[in-house]
Amino acid sequence: MDQRPPARTPRRAGTAVLLLSLALLAPACTAGTGGVEGRPGASGLRDPYFPKLGNGGYDVTHYGLTLDVDPDGQTLRGTAEITARATQDLSSFNLDLVGMTVESATVEGRPAAVNRAGGELTLRPDAEVESRLHRGRTFRTVVRYSGSPRTITDSDDSEEGWLRTADGSVALGEPTGSMAWFPGNNHPSDKASYDVSVTVPEGLTAVSNGVLAGPPRTAGGRTTFRWHTAEPMASYLATLAVGRFGTRTTTMAGGIKVFTAVDPESAKASARTVARVPEVVAWEAEHFGPYPFSATGAIVERKGDAGYALETQNRPFFPGPPSIGLLVHEMAHQWFGDSVTPESWRDMWLNEGLATYAEWLWEEEKEDTPAQDSFDEAYEDDANWAFPPADPPSAADISEQPVYGRGAMVIHKIREAVDDDEEFFALLAGWTKAHRHGNASTKDFTAYVEKATGQDLTELWDDWLYGRSRPAADG
Ligand code: TRP
Ligand code: ZN
Repeated sequence: MDQRPPARTPRRAGTAVLLLSLALLAPACTAGTGGVEGRPGASGLRDPYFPKLGNGGYDVTHYGLTLDVDPDGQTLRGTAEITARATQDLSSFNLDLVGMTVESATVEGRPAAVNRAGGELTLRPDAEVESRLHRGRTFRTVVRYSGSPRTITDSDDSEEGWLRTADGSVALGEPTGSMAWFPGNNHPSDKASYDVSVTVPEGLTAVSNGVLAGPPRTAGGRTTFRWHTAEPMASYLATLAVGRFGTRTTTMAGGIKVFTAVDPESAKASARTVARVPEVVAWEAEHFGPYPFSATGAIVERKGDAGYALETQNRPFFPGPPSIGLLVHEMAHQWFGDSVTPESWRDMWLNEGLATYAEWLWEEEKEDTPAQDSFDEAYEDDANWAFPPADPPSAADISEQPVYGRGAMVIHKIREAVDDDEEFFALLAGWTKAHRHGNASTKDFTAYVEKATGQDLTELWDDWLYGRSRPAADG
């Protein structure tokens, strides 16, 4: 009942596409010079909520994106160089991409056949390349594309992908939007490093994840910003904000670079909170373990530019001046979500429950509101009891209240079970250490907590994580 693919999931035109693919692929299967029997990589990773997201048959290790953005026309011309390792002998494979025109594609430097259907871009390398695409091989794909990147409306009616802002654009990718602006393996389970080089009209700034690989260069009225993300990043956390920004670079204790980009309209109202980025990062590091990345910061747009904040890697995005609580929440995601990334979209509560609990902890320590009070309030809120946090009924629900509030209640219950704050924080830090820069599932989490505490917590999980009804508050 729970694992139904959501109604909004674009289904491929089954038979027609299948026949077309077979026609395309059949010759390749026999033409391999080395006698390789490659087979097509799967067109999706069977995510419980978004079965077509991501692709099978390979793992991306690096994205090199070279982008030219025209904010007036909201157009993008891009080259994506994708380095990947084959996890099977491949005759063809898919990337996720919606909209845009694919101008050309090569695999290992040789032209590849291109087929498109829905959000799937299928590349079939020529016979000579195919004969080398063995399992374990690293190969390079280059896709040239252009067009007006799309805004994607999610099943919960929020907008992601490419959003127009008052003075430019911003790319936001949770859960599916990265495929609006670059082709890739668009699922949180395939993390990679990134180099994003963006050219925009002089006077505008292009902000992405990671660190600047060098000073911006201007030539012929256009400026190029080169961003480097060394640590693994899930595609939903990649961002690109183009517009007028006041930027600031500082270095905090431990050498972490702090890069903030603030829309001038939001500068005054956000100055105090944005100045607290290093304080929040340091406070969270005390509770959750060392900050997992070499850079941090924030991107602050103006109100109305997007409907929500997002924990884009290294520097969270805010659609206007954030409250300190929201900064605490988005920054906590750098540990819970960005460094330790959900295995699938069903594990979303690990992101939102822990980030919400970070807010409760902040309020407890800084604002004299014990986490118990936040728990009690959440407990009384009927919205938290619509469904169990580890089992949202559909894709439209992965960002709903139970994933946040009831997710945080689960963490509070673990704290109660541990009954010692030093041990509890060591448990959180141990979790972020165990899966640093990786992926983890709900099962990984419950197994980890039981091992770390030496307790059988079956009842806690049954009641608070998976149960459909409201347990007794002290149960
Ligand atoms: N992750 C964001 C936050 O908690 C909220 C959010 C934005 C979201 N877009 C989403 C959650 C899509 C789930 C799906 O700050
Ligand atoms: Zn969140």
